[in-house]
Amino acid sequence: MLFSGLDQLPPDVILGIAQAYRADSSPLKIDLGIGIYKDDQGLSPVLPSVKAAEKWLIDHQASKSYLSSAGSPEFNTKIAELLFGSDYEAEYDGRIRSVQTPGGSGALRLVADFLRTNSPTSKIWLPNPSWATHQPIFAAGGLTIQRYPYYDLPSGRLLFDEMIGALRAAQPNDVVVLHGCCHNPTGEDLEPSHWSIIADLLRHKGATPLIDLAYQGFGDGLNEDAYSIRLFAKQLPELFVASSCSKNFSLYRDRVGALTTIAQSRAASITLQEHIAKAIRANYSMPPDHGASVVAHILGHPELRILWEHELEAMRTRIAAMRVLFARELTKYSNRDYSSIARQKGMFSMLNLTPDAISCLKEEHHIFMISTGRINVAGLTRENVSRVASSIAAIQPHTAI
Ligand code: LMR
Repeated sequence: MLFSGLDQLPPDVILGIAQAYRADSSPLKIDLGIGIYKDDQGLSPVLPSVKAAEKWLIDHQASKSYLSSAGSPEFNTKIAELLFGSDYEAEYDGRIRSVQTPGGSGALRLVADFLRTNSPTSKIWLPNPSWATHQPIFAAGGLTIQRYPYYDLPSGRLLFDEMIGALRAAQPNDVVVLHGCCHNPTGEDLEPSHWSIIADLLRHKGATPLIDLAYQGFGDGLNEDAYSIRLFAKQLPELFVASSCSKNFSLYRDRVGALTTIAQSRAASITLQEHIAKAIRANYSMPPDHGASVVAHILGHPELRILWEHELEAMRTRIAAMRVLFARELTKYSNRDYSSIARQKGMFSMLNLTPDAISCLKEEHHIFMISTGRINVAGLTRENVSRVASSIAAIQPHTAI
């Protein structure tokens, strides 16, 4: 029988925590697990810019007929502008093309499918640590995965020299995954000087970067967070960018993302898109439309765009403020240095806690985080931050940073 001999599986590392949080009936529970932005009331509301665009769509969308495998042309142009600037066509000589995908994960899986068909011996290089789902996505695509060192949890330090040392072994046509901003799970980002060194190395090796940009606007700002992709597009012949509108438009469940490619020439870019379209058709045929139409409308509407940029800035500044407050509270309760948390960017940081400590926080304090010690800083509020910090301090000596 096909279905009866299956092994039971452990819960998904991230979705399993979301499920455990939902199942806890304590009024004291605090969710620092899955990466969802929450406001100071702990809510994740639909953005007013999104609501306005949805109303507009209901009134004005004339047809639900099929688009193409690449999705909405308006969305694709607006996303390429968001990534590379409004003059991207001229500035990068027509080498850039975006296709709409079901979330950033859909874009990553599309890269895996494309490689399996066109370059099955390409290895995928992932940072250690990386987003927990990177590994399964590329493994499901049948690719060989290598790891490069990125972050030392006990010391809270970026392992840049070690990373470069490992990437020296990359071969031509290997694909190196890098987090463009707001590294998930560490929050520890690369500096401009680091990006230049990586660009030189990858050019020299003939390896292709895949920049995962799931948090554009959550680090330092929309343009600032695009620094790496703009630099790479100028300095390297080829690039993949997997981007997402889950976080910056709060469109998590609508599954809105894009795969943007940069090829060596305009002609190579057009042929590449034919192969990407073929890979999409063989997988999910076409992406879902609603969220992408919402994003395209906001980005093309001057007033809604201003409103959205303010909403994004409010999310970014609240997270940054919670980082500073949390680091201060942790230091106050534990007398240790937590300044790395205040310095790091985006939703996530990692705490150096033992599995026992993480499970004690969950069972006894109703504080939920990923089993690796990753916390979603956006789950902290002015009301709960002290309790989280004092609970973590109470379970020392498990805490090392
Ligand atoms: C996360 O890292 O928590 C988010 O990107 C949500 C997910 O799908 O894992």
